[in-house]
Amino acid sequence: MKGIVFTEFLELVEEKFGLEVVDKIITQSNLPSKGAYTAVGTYAFSEMLSLLNHLSNHTNISIDDLLLVYAEHFFKVIVDSYPEIIKSYKDPLEMLASIENHIHLEVLKIYPDAELPTFTIIDKTEDSLNMIYKSSRSMHYFGLGLMNKTFDHFKASATITMEKIKENGTEVKFSIIKN
Ligand code: HEM
Repeated sequence: MKGIVFTEFLELVEEKFGLEVVDKIITQSNLPSKGAYTAVGTYAFSEMLSLLNHLSNHTNISIDDLLLVYAEHFFKVIVDSYPEIIKSYKDPLEMLASIENHIHLEVLKIYPDAELPTFTIIDKTEDSLNMIYKSSRSMHYFGLGLMNKTFDHFKASATITMEKIKENGTEVKFSIIKN
């Protein structure tokens, strides 16, 4: 997992819960990196899981909810860091339908070792999109947060539902209907 995902996560934890909580979860997680991340470095996904687990225990907020809130923050980072990718879209559904064949391909040019999910489109109309998320990392709530913010960004809204195909969340169907 790319360092930018860790550095932005720890910044958000500091903003919401304070530096003591950042120090506490880093210490508890017993990380090979010792919590010293650089944005362009690459670190084990297990470090993120460990940080999320300890933060969840400390705050009593579920990992899914933490990932949702974190994704909403991460969308701002994306808009600030890669404005030209976002600017190439005029419509949120078009943008979401292009994660697989454009957006994440651009991400791979920037970070060749990024670990990305796949989104397979089942069907798409002018106001609806159904697709299947697949990833060994089960970060579908992170995807949901990014999708919510994609609609906000275009001043639009949608009803997004998730249906687990695999119980462990490695395969999830997203149904998105524009309001
Ligand atoms: C992961 C970039 C848009 C879904 C990531 C990562 C980056 C990234 C850097 C982390 C990869 C790693 O740590 O190795 C971007 C950029 C985008 C964008 C620059 C737009 C310009 C989206 C959108 C979605 C999305 C709109 C909507 C669902 C995900 C998910 C992950 C991810 C779910 C977590 C990894 C996983 O589930 O396996 N993305 N992304 N991304 N992205 Fe994107």
